[in-house]
Amino acid sequence: MNILVTGGAGYIGSIVAEELIRQGDAVVVFDNLYYGHRAAVHPDATFVEGDLADRAAVKAVFDAHEIEAVMHFASYTLVGESMEQPFKYLGDNVTNGLNLLQEAVAHGVRRFILSSTANLFDDPERMPIDEEERIVPGSPYGESKNILERILHWLDRVYGFRYAALRYFNAAGASPTGERGEDHDPETHLIPRVLQVALGRREKIVIFGDDYPTRDGTCVRDYIHVTDLAQAHILALRALDEGSRTYNLGNGQGFTVKEVIETCREVTGHPIPAEVGPRRPGDPAVLVASSEKIRRELGWEPRYPDLRTIIGHAWEWHRTHPNGYGD
Ligand code: UFG
Repeated sequence: MNILVTGGAGYIGSIVAEELIRQGDAVVVFDNLYYGHRAAVHPDATFVEGDLADRAAVKAVFDAHEIEAVMHFASYTLVGESMEQPFKYLGDNVTNGLNLLQEAVAHGVRRFILSSTANLFDDPERMPIDEEERIVPGSPYGESKNILERILHWLDRVYGFRYAALRYFNAAGASPTGERGEDHDPETHLIPRVLQVALGRREKIVIFGDDYPTRDGTCVRDYIHVTDLAQAHILALRALDEGSRTYNLGNGQGFTVKEVIETCREVTGHPIPAEVGPRRPGDPAVLVASSEKIRRELGWEPRYPDLRTIIGHAWEWHRTHPNGYGD
């Protein structure tokens, strides 16, 4: 299949593109390289540098390539930033997605995968969180994904547009080939930050609060290997012709911040100094996914459920790419 991957030069998009190509699909990557890296784009992908805000550029991609499906990763993704700059999220994330969707529909494309988020569940009533959980976006970022999910719902009703919304919990790790991994600037995520300490690039890790109602007082998250996420995208894509669908995606097991740091110490052999700081505003105490639905419906099974393996792959990437993609 010819697949357009927006944000295919970013962390998750580049690894999904790698996996699609490995499985025989043709990939067109569309990325403005604001956050993505040219070197992350698979050499067998067609690369188009462009911005989703530029509707003519989006149209040109569909005109030039016989696109059969779209995977949409290009997005602003920082919860904290979205609380300071809501229009970047409620505006740009939404209008960029609309540009993409309008051109997809105009070009007869009916298959679409949306990167959605656990930030839809700010106040969960049950743990682990399944797809029946009520939606309470935790930030303008989460709301922007919620709006896109709602738009997709209506496009399905009106045009028979088939979509899958995949709500990731905490994507982590790197591609097992060692070629692609996480390179954000600024880096806000826990695992890469902890590994930066092991690399000597950061003096210590600050734990954002240890007074949460959890087993050791630090926040619990569900870390899912990025390659397992990629596999879920591919299974969802193959199943789209049978109908649209929404899945929560995680490993189903939560780890505290302290447990993650301890596992990083074991994997790297570095003492990794840590100190407790204040809470980061907006962090829920516990977020763990139930991925029973995608397991049952699509037979998805994480290949790398073990936190040590996830951190091991991340460490391999950071150790061999201390400057990330070097751009
Ligand atoms: N943390 C620290 N110190 C740090 C960085 C993070 O203690 O230096 C803690 C956070 O407080 C949190 C945990 O580590 O408890 C994980 O934090 P991340 O920033 O790695 O990930 P989040 O759970 O905050 O964010 C993830 C995704 C977002 C998504 C969000 C939904 O990265 O895209 O889950 O809540 F929106």
